[in-house]
Amino acid sequence: MNVCTDMMKVTLRIAAESLFGDDLAESADEINRVFPDILASLAARVSSPLRPPIWLPTANNRRLRPALAVLDGIVSRLIATKRQRLASEGLTPDGPPDLLTALMMARDEETGESMSDVHLRDEVMTMMIAGHETTANALSWLWVLLDQHPDEQERLRAELQAATGGSPPTVGDLAQLHRTKAVMLETMRLYPPVWMFDRRALGPDDLGGTAVRKGDLVIFCPYAIHRLPELWPDPDAFQPERFDGGRKPHNTYAYLPFSAGPRTCLGNNFALIESQIIVGTLLSRFCVRRADQTPIEPQPRVTLRTSRPVILHLETASPQGITR
Ligand code: HEM
Repeated sequence: MNVCTDMMKVTLRIAAESLFGDDLAESADEINRVFPDILASLAARVSSPLRPPIWLPTANNRRLRPALAVLDGIVSRLIATKRQRLASEGLTPDGPPDLLTALMMARDEETGESMSDVHLRDEVMTMMIAGHETTANALSWLWVLLDQHPDEQERLRAELQAATGGSPPTVGDLAQLHRTKAVMLETMRLYPPVWMFDRRALGPDDLGGTAVRKGDLVIFCPYAIHRLPELWPDPDAFQPERFDGGRKPHNTYAYLPFSAGPRTCLGNNFALIESQIIVGTLLSRFCVRRADQTPIEPQPRVTLRTSRPVILHLETASPQGITR
């Protein structure tokens, strides 16, 4: 199993199903086909000092434009289908079945207006792009770390056995999977998917003796902050107990995988829930180890990737349970 591509596929599928619900089925393959091109083109754009407008026929734009057009078409079609269904059938008593329907029903508190199709399309595209590569990369690193720490893998399996009797977990089991969550949080301390982000200063400030003027661009590097020995004792060591039992760092800004403040990640809980479910589901069925031990380094692109594909061997866990 190539865990990098497989985690990408599963998180894209989860993001798309949560957004579109059952209507996704017929477009899922098409989305999977165009998304790698979109991500690769966006990565090339972000890492280049030149960002030519999208209409210029550069090699990168020639790859990006048709892929975006396909996605645009799919999303517009899904919006139209949902609008029709909502008009003819209304809502079930369970409320909106997916995020797109919920966004369609949302009304601006002041004006009472609903979102236009263009606004809806932009929100949906943002969620899909922001919401899957980050989680997939964190999960790739998590499997690397669980391979390096087989005792931790056994511990997670024991936790799962106690919580579900060895079945894949559901949302109702998550509160009991606190060690699994701690492993995910510790993974993102060592390998934060968004390893760098920036903010524009609203006013003058002083950052540890460096003057910041209004309008300055301040760059934060969670990867570096997460490894400062004054904030994190033994910073390079993988120690999930730093987070187990809901433990938090003393300094709120010592841990920034989801950034902080008013523009913090909107999907942080979603990401943690889906990670616990994915990890629990795989560990309920398989013992996982890397196929080879070639060193893997962090590769800082738009997100923090692994320097090479991570190939995993999956050994089926015993059918009676998850003990080997
Ligand atoms: C492990 C997974 C994830 C990580 C590490 C992560 C990290 C981040 C970070 C650091 C930001 C702030 C970026 C900046 O300010 O420049 C952000 C923003 C955002 N994230 Fe996530 N994210 C993850 C998963 C998700 C998921 C699953 C979704 C949606 C379902 C999502 C939706 C968003 C959105 C919409 C924003 C923009 C918020 C705003 O600007 O107000 N993220 N994320």
